[in-house]
Amino acid sequence: MTPRCALLGLVLVLAGGCAGVSSKTAAAAAAEAAFRPPAAAPGIALAAPVVPVVAAPVIPVAVPVVKPVEAPVEITEASFGCIRDLAPVRDFYVGNLAGDLEATLAAANGAGGGAWPVGSVVQLVPGEAMVKREPGFSAATGDWEFFQLDVHAGATQIAMRGTGQVTDAFGGNCVSCHSQAEAKWDMVCEAGHGCEPTGMTPMMAKALQNTDPRCGRLVLPAAQLRALSDHAAMRVAAARSAGR
Ligand code: HEC
Repeated sequence: MTPRCALLGLVLVLAGGCAGVSSKTAAAAAAEAAFRPPAAAPGIALAAPVVPVVAAPVIPVAVPVVKPVEAPVEITEASFGCIRDLAPVRDFYVGNLAGDLEATLAAANGAGGGAWPVGSVVQLVPGEAMVKREPGFSAATGDWEFFQLDVHAGATQIAMRGTGQVTDAFGGNCVSCHSQAEAKWDMVCEAGHGCEPTGMTPMMAKALQNTDPRCGRLVLPAAQLRALSDHAAMRVAAARSAGR
């Protein structure tokens, strides 16, 4: 007899015979099938069509709402624009490239800190941004990607992007400062979260936001004009001391 037929023994009791097994009783074939080691498993697939098919009752099952697998956030130069088109929060601006601005605002305004949602964009000045990437993107930066941007009227160019290597216009490494923020603030520094200060005053940040060349022009109050020239002097001094 063929091994296939031996395996089929169990179902043959119902199905009524198999060429070559006639010398055995159906009960003996069934017993043999029951004790056959799992090595004979491939026969099971072949046996399948012989098993009488009983139509299973159709039970209505509520389809669970499956959260889609988080697709990587696609970030290009087109992802950035006039900083003032983002949502203002205290001294900085936020957005969400994954479309969940509400979650980003909740994180920005949460008194106790916590992780920022995927897609969050945070900008203090037009030329720098951090974007929260998908989980697993970069443990060392809390899944944040840092950007140094060149901004021009109507255009943004990504001068530098990444995790551990990105530096700002003063040559300072983004993550070396931002990782100083207490863990609960998820690398967002603000004033008082534990990061080394940059020397940029809130007035300078405001003036840079208000002179983003990608936005409409604003007339700046004298204090912001002064802050702009102080900031320019700071950049020159930083470049000199770095020998650039
Ligand atoms: C010398 C340390 C230092 C470096 C270098 C630095 N930052 Fe910051 N950054 C800060 C501090 C401190 C603040 C908070 C400023 C404030 O609100 O007074 C800040 C604020 C920000 C903010 C607003 C949200 C927040 O964390 O408060 C963004 C976005 C940001 N930085 C991005 C960058 C990026 C991108 C780079 C690199 C291209 C960079 N920073 C480099 C210290 C630094």
